[in-house]
Amino acid sequence: MSDTITKFTYQSFQQGKSLFALAHKTLSNRLMDIVSPLETKSKPIPNEVLLELQERLNHLSEVDWEDAQRGIYPKEVLFDNSWEDFFRYYPAILIDMPQMWERAKNKKYQEFAPEVDIKGYPNYYAQNFHHQADGYLSDASANLYDLQVEILFGGSADPMRRRVLAPLKNSLEVFSDVLPKQIRVLDVACGTGRTLKSIRSTLPEASLFGVDLSPAYLRKTNEVLSQIPGELPQLLQANAEELPYLDNYFHAVTSVFLFHELPAPVRQSVIEESFRVTKPGGTFIICDSIQMSDSPQMQVIMENFSETFHEPYYRNYMTDDLMERLHKAGFESVDTQVHLMSKYLIARKPV
Ligand SMILES: C[S@@+](CC[C@H](N)C(=O)[O-])C[C@H]1O[C@@H](n2cnc3c(N)ncnc32)[C@H](O)[C@@H]1O
Repeated sequence: MSDTITKFTYQSFQQGKSLFALAHKTLSNRLMDIVSPLETKSKPIPNEVLLELQERLNHLSEVDWEDAQRGIYPKEVLFDNSWEDFFRYYPAILIDMPQMWERAKNKKYQEFAPEVDIKGYPNYYAQNFHHQADGYLSDASANLYDLQVEILFGGSADPMRRRVLAPLKNSLEVFSDVLPKQIRVLDVACGTGRTLKSIRSTLPEASLFGVDLSPAYLRKTNEVLSQIPGELPQLLQANAEELPYLDNYFHAVTSVFLFHELPAPVRQSVIEESFRVTKPGGTFIICDSIQMSDSPQMQVIMENFSETFHEPYYRNYMTDDLMERLHKAGFESVDTQVHLMSKYLIARKPV
């Protein structure tokens, strides 16, 4: 396929996902208002904010395309969405919706199926984040998670995750004397493995590691990564506050969409643990929600998110100084970027 056709196909694919997500959200919000209306309503989003969102979305697709074009990852990665999963799990999302509305309306934030054992998990974690059935603690939740995030971000969750790949690849240049297969990269709170899968497309030989508190999400990561020929997922179930790895072990550490779900002191502990396991000269890359400091014009969207989704630590996260936390842990030369609804902090551990 010529580049022009591939680019057009990619843009149409993204627009299709975005329209689908919009239709889903409009329909589900209308139904919720009829069946199970919430006390707190989302604030309307002003037109200029909607315009900026559209511009950011277009820019994200452009950067995603350019990174593929310059070989950060192969172009096929741009289309890496499983139709099989879509047809299999979208009906389950529809079936789960009335229960999500009930949880939201009755402010039930710790509702788990009887077979889900929450003993031993930190209190801040054992919650129905996003009003999700079983929080992060069941296979059913792990199966629906990717599609739910895709809908939330209008089909741009993976393009936002992929923005860690260029800085990751660049940061590994300082280890050019290390054999590619001896490069070790850890993804903290790897969830269902989407980031690890995209890192694999950028670093075909590196040893990839993933850690998460949820056994169910790790099982899903294992399923996703095991489909890659020759892949041996190196996954551990652990709290990111106590990473079960040696000091200075990894050439790079990434973490995507974790920090907004942690209480402030836990954010600091996870950053300090990430510092401990990163090699001198190595890099730690955070991708998480935008904040007031970089996107004050998006305040209404951030406030709506914190009101309507169950995100107990997000309001504090909105104004938290992650840069200061990284410096406090010992990182230096922290660069930042913003793409659509995510910000990126690229922090280096001094040699
Ligand atoms: C919003 S999801 C993000 C998952 C994934 N990184 C992604 O890009 O979709 C948050 C993840 O953080 C994990 N998590 C939350 N607190 C954690 C902790 N203290 N230690 C390890 N994992 C944690 C959850 O189990 C969940 O998989």
